[in-house]
Amino acid sequence: MNALSDNAIEILRENDRGTYTVPTKGLYPFQWNWDSCLTALGQRHFDEARAWTEIETLMAHQWPCGMVPHIVFHKPDDGYFPGPDVWATGRPVPTSGITQPAVAGFALRRLFDLAKDRGAAETRVRALLPKVAAWHRWFFATRDPAGEGLVAIIHPWESGRDNSIDWDAAFDRVPTEGVSPYTRRDTQHANPAHRPTKEQYDRYLWLVEHFRSLNWETSRLHDASPFRVVDPGFNGILLRACADLADLAEHLGAAEIAAENRNFAKKGLAALESLWSEQHGQYLCKDRVTGTLVQSQSIGGLLAAFAAIPRERAARIAQTIDNHATRFRVASHLPSDPRFDAKRYWRGPVWLVVNYMVADGLARAGQVDAANAITASSLDLIRESGFAEYYDPQTGEPLGGGRFTWTAAMVLEFLSMER
Ligand code: GLC
Repeated sequence: MNALSDNAIEILRENDRGTYTVPTKGLYPFQWNWDSCLTALGQRHFDEARAWTEIETLMAHQWPCGMVPHIVFHKPDDGYFPGPDVWATGRPVPTSGITQPAVAGFALRRLFDLAKDRGAAETRVRALLPKVAAWHRWFFATRDPAGEGLVAIIHPWESGRDNSIDWDAAFDRVPTEGVSPYTRRDTQHANPAHRPTKEQYDRYLWLVEHFRSLNWETSRLHDASPFRVVDPGFNGILLRACADLADLAEHLGAAEIAAENRNFAKKGLAALESLWSEQHGQYLCKDRVTGTLVQSQSIGGLLAAFAAIPRERAARIAQTIDNHATRFRVASHLPSDPRFDAKRYWRGPVWLVVNYMVADGLARAGQVDAANAITASSLDLIRESGFAEYYDPQTGEPLGGGRFTWTAAMVLEFLSMER
């Protein structure tokens, strides 16, 4: 153990609420979907049983349709907006009504493969397997109604990259008028210059109110949303999770789940190729309403490498990252783009969770030097700037919330990868 891992464990324990972990005190007082799955990977280093519980708690709030919501509001807390009364999803324990990147399948496989307590791991993974499979089935049924092989997000928050430049053009179609008056909370915990703008917030809320008016019937929302974007990062995570779940299912003798998820992964990986841009050396988002590729070089198009993309694509992505030439890797947007903003959330800053998934995917595709460079840069950043929510890729300045859970979890993973 070294000081860095001791610190990381201390943060994970501090933000632990017993059966789930909050992303950070104050700013995010509930359970977030992909935060929890990635947090479990950190928890496994010091408490394997607790790591399984993290994912079990999340999956216990899955909707009957199969969706796993992006936030579970376990206990009232008015430090966050929009809270349960705005979402009004009618769930027994309140949740939001949209989802988040489906990293659970990957997390299950990693927890299972590396578990020391094999017996417990098998019991716990067996119970979780059908739930994650139902989530994947829900994705393709409701978010890929035409059977293209890729799913669309219907709200920027679903991507996990809330205010990315990727969404700007499609988001313009979302009205700002008619939203009920509200007070933001995030800007009371963090510098407003480093957060999404007021206009973006109006649109986020317009979509929430629109989906609420449709009674959160998830099968209707895709077609009813003016915002429908196919994000290569989001799909890359889902397709990787499908492949991992298929492997797990095969191992556990669940043949149907294995075949179904193998098929999702195969079809999706083929469809992903339609988002590749040779000119930019990365994948791009596709606006499903207009049918056009979005000219925005964000981390989403690099994160696709988390899935089993062709090896030559992974090599090109490694090169694209090198070309960013920021002091710390990987900027969440191409630094030479005039829209790049080094300190504003997902419009430029470095996020450790994304670094982790990009590094993992590149290593699997044989891009070991590129993966090692990301690992080393991530740990340098933490040593210099501590455990923040996100960081300026040029200066390393820590931004957003502090003592951040998933950052700490990723540090434990990076340290183990470095060894
Ligand atoms: C922000 C991030 C999102 C994350 C959440 C909790 O909304 O954009 O990805 O899940 O915070 O950390």
